[in-house]
Amino acid sequence: GAPVTQDITGLAEGQRLIVEWRGQPIWIVKRSQAVLQALPTLDSHLRDPKSENKDQQPDYIKGETRSIKPDISVLVGLCTHLGCSPEMKAEIRPEPFDPEWKGGYFCPCHKSRFDMAGRVFQGVPAPTNLLVPPHHYENDTTIVIG
Ligand code: FES
Repeated sequence: GAPVTQDITGLAEGQRLIVEWRGQPIWIVKRSQAVLQALPTLDSHLRDPKSENKDQQPDYIKGETRSIKPDISVLVGLCTHLGCSPEMKAEIRPEPFDPEWKGGYFCPCHKSRFDMAGRVFQGVPAPTNLLVPPHHYENDTTIVIG
């Protein structure tokens, strides 16, 4: 499929845009400083905190944020277990189901949990982190997916 271009000028902190690329939902999320600060505190609870599985993202996506710009996260919005669509739960607060919860994505199908970088928690059915699609910035506020 052809690359998809998306303007993110109006994207506010905590908001998510969903665009379609190759029949898949692509999430573009602007993360707050609080969300970014929580990411490194989660590593010991995650299956692959450094995203060492290279099938999960392009080579240029590195580190805990799993993004080109720290605040802008771009992910394929499909659970890596059986492909359901996880819900975004960005609030930084404990959830009854997980005292370590500091915001992220929750898959309602079989309760897989991911943080706000799409990194999968331990002890859930999803085997890998959410995928980061190939993308780049055409300019400061324009993302090209694909
Ligand atoms: Fe998401 Fe099974 S499809 S946990």
